[in-house]
Amino acid sequence: MGRIAEEKIQEIRDRVDIVEVVSGYLPLKRSGVNHQGLCPFHQEKSPSFNVNASRQIFHCFGCGVGGNVFSFVMRMEGLSFPDAVRRLGEKVGVEVEEEAVSPAEIRRREVRERLLRVNEAAGAFYHQLLLEDEAGASGRRYLRQRGYAGETVRSFQLGFAPEGWESLATHLAGENFSVEEARMAGLVRPGKQGRGDYDLFRNRLLFPIQDLQGRMVAFGGRVLDDSLPKYINSPETEVYHKGQVLYGLYQARDAMRHSNEALVVEGYFDVLALHRAGFAGAVATCGTALTADHARLLKRYADKVLLIFDEDAAGKQATFRAMDALLPVGLAVSVVAMPAGEDPDSLLKARGEEGFRDCLAAARPVLEVFIEDRLHNNDQSVEGRARAAEQVLERIRLLPGDLERSLYLKRLAALTGLDVELLQSKVRGGHVAPPTVRRAAPPPSPVRATAQETGQTQKYLLRLMLVDDRQRRQVREEGTAKLFLDEFFSSLADYLLSCEDQEGRLPANLIDASLDESQQSLLASLVLQEDQGWADNPEKIFTDCRRAVSNSLLKQRLREIRHLEEEAQRNNDEAAQERYLRERTEINQKLKKKL
Ligand code: CTP
Ligand code: MN
Repeated sequence: MGRIAEEKIQEIRDRVDIVEVVSGYLPLKRSGVNHQGLCPFHQEKSPSFNVNASRQIFHCFGCGVGGNVFSFVMRMEGLSFPDAVRRLGEKVGVEVEEEAVSPAEIRRREVRERLLRVNEAAGAFYHQLLLEDEAGASGRRYLRQRGYAGETVRSFQLGFAPEGWESLATHLAGENFSVEEARMAGLVRPGKQGRGDYDLFRNRLLFPIQDLQGRMVAFGGRVLDDSLPKYINSPETEVYHKGQVLYGLYQARDAMRHSNEALVVEGYFDVLALHRAGFAGAVATCGTALTADHARLLKRYADKVLLIFDEDAAGKQATFRAMDALLPVGLAVSVVAMPAGEDPDSLLKARGEEGFRDCLAAARPVLEVFIEDRLHNNDQSVEGRARAAEQVLERIRLLPGDLERSLYLKRLAALTGLDVELLQSKVRGGHVAPPTVRRAAPPPSPVRATAQETGQTQKYLLRLMLVDDRQRRQVREEGTAKLFLDEFFSSLADYLLSCEDQEGRLPANLIDASLDESQQSLLASLVLQEDQGWADNPEKIFTDCRRAVSNSLLKQRLREIRHLEEEAQRNNDEAAQERYLRERTEINQKLKKKL
């Protein structure tokens, strides 16, 4: 991928006006130095969404989202950073040509372009057949039997592939697509013994799989009777990676954004049924397990995920696999149980919207379900329970929030009869997060971070670093590691220090694409708090932060000592016992003094 030149990004940033861009999506009203409106990223009745023209940033005090004009467009349109830059570039007449695009990359893009075009042509052909062609009559009848009318057909661009072996192949040839293009898209296959290419989908109802721009990238096709295979799907291509696409997301994302909740189901028809019944935030994987990429995709639109998989062994397994993908990105995950043998489509048919709502209301946190499952599947011996606990601890470690972690530890302790302190120390001991994992598991959102005891003080300190060059120098001298307890804050502090120019001043444009979303949001909120008074004295903020860090280190040592003491006791090592006792007393005194 060729990089977009930094000057280009700068030029576009200088030319676009965030107030104007945001106004294209929602009405804004002037309020003091800011513009305000109803946040497009969560449901609210009074405006807490702020846009600041002089700093060219936005921030919502309701849901904590914030950033610059690029992050706004990325979120709003589901675009990548380069695509958001390009989109805004077009708007202000700055053409983004990229540096150093290799010939291989150019060739790859051409292929992608052609694949998209051939998929689009095929989708239009199939859709038209289903809507009105004689050849689509059986498809229409089938859909009508299952209760689907024109509206669903249109919004999901459903299609019908006719009986014949070469209907699509012939159509595409007539539209001047080459045999090679149709084959590459997986829509036709070479015939044997010199015969022409034949269509992959024949006599099937088709579900086009769309990307975030609504472009068709693949198809899933269902038979109209009980024959097998029930579904066939397009193969993976340059434009279709099933681990990265969610069926229905294009149609579901606004609803997800507003309810802050995503429903993940198993089947194409379940997505249709839920949309039709007004549960519009529903998506399905395309016949594959939920991946980390899917999880990150969902996290763009919601903080909560409800999993609705079959109530059989395979469904359970899929649920727990999904859990492992979803928890690390900071999504809250619950499980919605369906009555045996039902899926959302059949349940809605049998019991209507009400019946489905009852199921939703009975949703349970996935870890709770997992704990139960593990305890049930391991025997009740001490070893069995320990094994179950290990498996659960592995997941508890994935939780990004301290509060949640401690809640589940208590629950696990109660259910296994194991000591909660022991479980706690095990979670900490095993929690080594290599830097590569940190990207996959974004830090807690600023909203959640406030819940942490010291979060507020650390934010004050960051804020001081923003407004006061002298304070920032002091942070540099002391070292961020000594002043910030959470890596989330310390990495932002490091970032601010790295932004300084030669005179030790910060540039006006602080928010950069290298920051992740929650860091951008926090920075934007700190910058926007400009006019709110800062009564606290800076010295106190420094000492509070410093103390929080050293207290946390001391407490960690205390926990270690407790285990070391137990061991010394078991070994009858009196000298060691005494040594630990002394150290423990010293630490406790230090901790007391500092309070
Ligand atoms: N699937 C697939 N290939 C198959 C069977 C299933 O790709 N041979 C995928 C499809 O995405 C399908 C999902 O798994 O939507 C769930 O399968 P299933 O529960 O069998 O079908 P439903 O979606 O419930 O379809 P229907 O209601 O029409 O039976
Ligand atoms: Mn079904």
